[in-house]
Amino acid sequence: MGRVEGKVAFVTGAARGQGRSHAIRLAQEGADIIAIDLCGQIESAPYPMSVPADLAETIQAVEALDRRIIATQTDVRDFDAVNKAVSDGVATLGRLDIVAVNAGITSYGGAIDLSETMWQDMMDTNLTGAWHTVKAAVPHIIAGGRGGSIVLTSSAAGLKGFPGIAHYSAAKHGVVGLMRTIAQELAPHMIRANTVHPGCVDTLMINNEATYSLFAPDLSAPTREDLLPRFESLNVLPIPLIEAIDVSNALIFLASHEARYITAVTLPIDAGTLIK
Ligand SMILES: NC(=O)c1ccc[n+]([C@@H]2O[C@H](COP(=O)([O-])OP(=O)(O)OC[C@H]3O[C@@H](n4cnc5c(N)ncnc54)[C@H](O)[C@@H]3O)[C@@H](O)[C@H]2O)c1
Repeated sequence: MGRVEGKVAFVTGAARGQGRSHAIRLAQEGADIIAIDLCGQIESAPYPMSVPADLAETIQAVEALDRRIIATQTDVRDFDAVNKAVSDGVATLGRLDIVAVNAGITSYGGAIDLSETMWQDMMDTNLTGAWHTVKAAVPHIIAGGRGGSIVLTSSAAGLKGFPGIAHYSAAKHGVVGLMRTIAQELAPHMIRANTVHPGCVDTLMINNEATYSLFAPDLSAPTREDLLPRFESLNVLPIPLIEAIDVSNALIFLASHEARYITAVTLPIDAGTLIK
């Protein structure tokens, strides 16, 4: 028996990175998947975002595990679209138990230098998008009457400020407020809500020139090799980056019966960034 055998999980931002890893990990442990991703560019994100071929790869990986997946190109900023994607998924897969609120973007700038667009895109995606996901998903979990688990991806920057990402940090702190509230409101339905707080994760959100320049403003064309020691200096454990699977393994625990009485927890997966 898998740890989430027979359950259905809704994963946002599932085309690549941590979202794809979550979808695969959940499928390995027996869940069917409802997956959404924008598969397109938000202009204020200074790095290439996912494309439809990425989501196709996630579909293939889940199906290779003999699990079902209903995947659509859907923008978490559009509540009606998210609501339709979840409803259509539940209509086909029959239930909803687990939500991985994962879709997100980043961009960089000093707090007083951020443009209105950078601020608003961040809030719309990383905070309002998280609320849209919860708002669309929860009625289906309640209707099932079996309880459920919501895991929202915040960040180390959701528990601490870091220079250059005021809007990201504000949105990710906001995700914690959302989690702490729904943990109380949904507890009578045996629906748990927790946040995960990754440090720097080895995905394309980090592996791009804009991020390298944030961490190495003194270098004209910083490379990944230049950056690894700087990422490592953020951690207490002597590693530069955590892997998407490290976050997925925390998520599968929080989603499973093993965590049945764990709710409203803010769980760092950060190689010790937050104790530094
Ligand atoms: N990579 C890191 O270092 C790191 C650290 C802490 C937290 N996080 C968070 O982890 C989550 C996953 O990020 P990742 O590292 O896998 O990056 P990623 O860029 O590889 O994946 C993010 C996915 O979210 C999707 N997405 C973005 N905006 C969307 C929208 N409006 N609607 C639907 N989908 C959208 C993207 O298309 C992409 O596929 C994000 O919430 C991010 O903020 C990342």
